[in-house]
Amino acid sequence: MSAKAVRLDKLLANLGYGSRREIQALGRAGAIRLDGEELTDAGARIALDPDLPSRLSIDEEPLDPLPGLCLMLHKPLGVTCSHKEAGPLIYGLLPERWRRREPPLSTVGRLDKETSGLLLLTDDGGLLHRIISPKAHVAKRYQVTLARPLRGDEEAALAAGTMMLEGEDRPLLPVAMEMGDSTHCAVTLTEGRYHQVRRMFAALGNHVEALHRDRVGGLDLPADLPAGEFRVLDAGGVAAIFAGG
Ligand code: URA
Repeated sequence: MSAKAVRLDKLLANLGYGSRREIQALGRAGAIRLDGEELTDAGARIALDPDLPSRLSIDEEPLDPLPGLCLMLHKPLGVTCSHKEAGPLIYGLLPERWRRREPPLSTVGRLDKETSGLLLLTDDGGLLHRIISPKAHVAKRYQVTLARPLRGDEEAALAAGTMMLEGEDRPLLPVAMEMGDSTHCAVTLTEGRYHQVRRMFAALGNHVEALHRDRVGGLDLPADLPAGEFRVLDAGGVAAIFAGG
């Protein structure tokens, strides 16, 4: 099947390179090259082949990832998963041009400002819904640091699937817990209620001091991805999200 063809100026405008007029000017100035040849007519239609970013350059830089982008970000503490709240936002950790992409990148769910770890972002609404859909059973694992020692009954209480959070009328689905030392554990959830981990431990009479997500589905936060940095997922990375957990 041949790749969909699109007008180059429209593609580049949607990737945040400027207005169509600005992109036409880039073409006339010889800044756009396809397979090493200047492409002066930015109104030309080009096939949206997956390898286009390695073949098309703008000002001698490879083209940004095409629409259908999914990336993992190592969210640092203190940044908010929002497009418009005050203070540092996760979108500020991405290349400036990516903030002008259309369709825009959105976070797949959210992490609290004071939670760190694996955060997915995508511009693919279908993928986003497939990941967050309860039917997909994409589990999320959190490493938890607690203020007070665990009593020993928490694992059974979380596994029972009967825990009610304050202000809610539906019990939580069972949560798997792995014990660490007396104030550390990991919990794996298949739903994502508001501040769920913090509220679960509050309901158990404890208090979460630090929270870090290290796995979504079968995708682990790589040990060599520092806080504040991101990596674009290839098809294998996206498939890992849906692979077991
Ligand atoms: N549970 C929380 O309490 N906070 C998060 O950021 C994620 C899960």
